[in-house]
Amino acid sequence: MKTLAELKKLRDESLKKMTMRYTKDGFRVQVGMGTCGIASGARPILNEFLEQANLRELKNMTITQVGCMGECAYEPMAEIIDESGQSYVYCSLTIPIVREIIEKHIINHQPVTRYLLSTRKDK
Ligand code: FES
Repeated sequence: MKTLAELKKLRDESLKKMTMRYTKDGFRVQVGMGTCGIASGARPILNEFLEQANLRELKNMTITQVGCMGECAYEPMAEIIDESGQSYVYCSLTIPIVREIIEKHIINHQPVTRYLLSTRKDK
């Protein structure tokens, strides 16, 4: 049996792993890594977001993985939330689409509407 301190340490380590790239400000990118997301190729999509952020030295992105996004047929998916709390859910992602989203949405602040499944305001 684990002590409370050991469980807290495990929780902190897990949270650290879930937040693969963290910045306080800027965009939050959440890639759906539920079972169907992984089966649809979410892992390479997540890796591409990370690789593009590193290649382009983007300091304005937090990239994390999340679980089920609730729309199996549209996987792989990623939600991008901007600083104002506006959410954009991109679907049926491929590596070239991720690159386009990075270029247009993250760098030039122009959402790529043709790949959007939905948008909503968090706040
Ligand atoms: S099981 Fe497919 S999106 Fe949740």
